[in-house]
Amino acid sequence: MIIRIAVGEARVGMYIDSMECAWIDNPFWRRSFAIKTDAELAKLVASPIAHVSIDTTKGRGVTVIPTAERRRAIDDSGSSGAADAPRAVERRRRRSGPQAGDLTRALDRSKEHVMALFREARLGKAIELGAVTPVVDDISVALQRDPAAFIKVTRLKLNNEYTYLHSIAVCALMVNLAMHLGLPEDEVREIGAAGLLHDIGKVATPLDILDKAGTLGDEEWLVMRRHPRDGHAMLREHADTSQIALDVCLHHHERLDGSGYPEGLKGDAISLHARIAAICDVYDAVTSIRPYKRPWSPHEALARMLEWEGHFDPVLLDAFIANLGIQPLGALVRLNSNRLGIVLDGGEDPAFPLVRTFFDVPDASLRPIEDVDTSRDPILRSERGDYWFPDRWPDILASVQAGETPMPLDPVPIAAAGGR
Ligand SMILES: [Fe+2]
Repeated sequence: MIIRIAVGEARVGMYIDSMECAWIDNPFWRRSFAIKTDAELAKLVASPIAHVSIDTTKGRGVTVIPTAERRRAIDDSGSSGAADAPRAVERRRRRSGPQAGDLTRALDRSKEHVMALFREARLGKAIELGAVTPVVDDISVALQRDPAAFIKVTRLKLNNEYTYLHSIAVCALMVNLAMHLGLPEDEVREIGAAGLLHDIGKVATPLDILDKAGTLGDEEWLVMRRHPRDGHAMLREHADTSQIALDVCLHHHERLDGSGYPEGLKGDAISLHARIAAICDVYDAVTSIRPYKRPWSPHEALARMLEWEGHFDPVLLDAFIANLGIQPLGALVRLNSNRLGIVLDGGEDPAFPLVRTFFDVPDASLRPIEDVDTSRDPILRSERGDYWFPDRWPDILASVQAGETPMPLDPVPIAAAGGR
């Protein structure tokens, strides 16, 4: 059960599910954690945070639950006992619902600031670097509440606002991944600023190329590819630009195999920050909903990015996928009902894709395929096809994707008996 309490009610042994504060005010630099010591409790009480939410399934609860909170918790879970997984999913949905207006307002505010930043830069005026940090903070507050929802509202981009919303989305994705990687607070903030500024060089790109709806010609691509160097030159004029922002601006289009631009850097020559930026930049670009092209769904985008060998850092890409909580198209997953299936597209919420089930774990047997709505039968975890079906996985995957029930196995796969 998730219960909102005043910080004064917090006790050692409680599990903090979320804190109502900007990430810069978060003294622990984590969203969720158990309070294990008196020192940690004292740190929380001394912080500017007024309220937190605790998860009583993972730690101790409060002695007396405030009536209003108890009523809400019972209302959410359908009973005061432990909720099963589908109920937990429904609870998450209800919790995130009322925040849609807040998210839109945060996005609009950020967009206004970023548009002003780019407008001034386009007019040749000095870039107001001081204006960047509050925008990063604003985005981070929205992220703290519900990262998936914020990233979702940044997907729709009208033509004339694409660059601004893309900058905000890349900032959000980079902050989210950097926090997931456990990088220090100052570094995360600089990474967020770098995300906002990574495409600032596009203010020097002619608008007819920047806003062109169709495919760019060779000459136009050459012009477009100048923006990392242009942006780097603009930022270098400011003594207070961080090294991270300079590096990300210049190197966010580099690829591990050396096929990127502008410098064709290879492997370790590309910094961690530029590698993070490359993943977040491409993910947002290909999933953006544009008036003139079909966007890739988040599942499809992740599946394709995994296939582009030599493009991204594979370890960071895995961390990015795990942090998004979105399964790539074709990924093997286990559902709450203990069935294995592969992820299909479909459904409005990328956290709850359709899954085509074909294998029953307790019986260790193939079953007729069935497309399952994962908002009703949630995904428990990802699984490895080559572990469950050592030699037959490519054939089984192809059958299931084609909508055919795979032929029975002979004998039953060894791995299926024990699980992992
Ligand atoms: Fe770029």
